[in-house]
Order: sequence, then C-alpha cells, then structure tokens
Amino acid sequence: MAERDGTVVCPGSYDPVTNGHLDIITRSSQALERVVVGVVNNPIRKEKTLFTPQERKAFIEEATAGLGNVEVQIFSNLLVEFARESGAKAIVKGLRAISDFEYEFEMAQLNRKLDPGIESIYMIASPQYSFLSSTGVKEMATFGGHVGDLVPAPVAAAMAERLGER
Ligand code: PNS
Repeated sequence: MAERDGTVVCPGSYDPVTNGHLDIITRSSQALERVVVGVVNNPIRKEKTLFTPQERKAFIEEATAGLGNVEVQIFSNLLVEFARESGAKAIVKGLRAISDFEYEFEMAQLNRKLDPGIESIYMIASPQYSFLSSTGVKEMATFGGHVGDLVPAPVAAAMAERLGER
C-alpha cells in the first residue's frame, strides 16, 4: 500500500463528467496534494451507463490534463479499499443540496463502518453548479436540449452521437 500523504480520492459514476464534477476536482486539486479521481466500473444503484468506464475515464483525463496533481483510475472494489490502495486518507465528494444529504449521509456512515481510518469530506458545490447532475444533462441531451455549457465540449459531442444512435 502506498504511503498516506495528502492524497484524496474523488469517486463517482461520472456518466458523464459534468462541469460541476470538474469544479469539485479542480478545487480539491488546489486545496490538497494529490487527487485520484475514481471512476466506478459498475454503479450498483444506476441503470446501464451511457458510457463505458474507459470512456468516462478518458473524458475526465482530457478535462483535467492541465492539473498536474490529478490522476484518474477505474475501480471495481469497495470505495474504502480503492482509497487505501491509492494511499488516500480521505474521500472528497460534492454536496449540491439538501436532497443529496440523505444519500451521502448513509454512504459516509457505511464507509466509516468499513474503515474508520478513511475520512469523508464534503465540498459544497459552487452555486452555478448546484442544479447540475449527470442524469439531468443526459435527459436534456436526449430531448435535444443544449448542454454545451454544462459539460466539456468532447462530452457534449459524444453524448449527441451516442444518444443519436438510440
Ligand atoms: O457519482 P455517484 O453515482 O454518486 O458515485 C457513487 C459511488 C461511486 C461513490 C458509490 O457507488 C461507491 O462508492 N461505489 C463503490 C462501492 C462502495 O464502496 N459503496 C459504498 C459503501 S457500501
């Protein structure tokens, strides 16, 4: 296992990454030494993903290429195990609204039960992203809404293409 330094993991389904996710990742990279973005291989509480894990990872890598202390990994195990393998002492997640709280409260308590040594830290979403979710973006794009200012340009293009295939 790697040494525990100022490393955190930013986990998620990232199907696809949004500008809100990127805001949390960027702010984490400014506040902390090293950020490992964890793309969950198979989100258990979600329907089939629009993008493969490799595609979701590639979108984040492209969008964070300018951030020297950010790396992106796919994980298939428990989040606390992934955090330990990454040498992280904390999980950082964004919190948009009260509606996020109940789910995140449960997740944080489960993760604490699994490993009390891994802390859960919640970063309040920037106001301009407080309404933004991958699910909302997918719904907008499905019905032809403009998502160009909500996700990185390559993601918007890939969504248009993928959803057009359906
Ligand atoms: O972006 P999401 O969908 O809110 O991210 C969910 C994620 C990846 C954080 C969650 O599904 C997760 O941690 N999955 C790995 C399995 C796990 O450790 N679950 C929590 C404890 S049971």
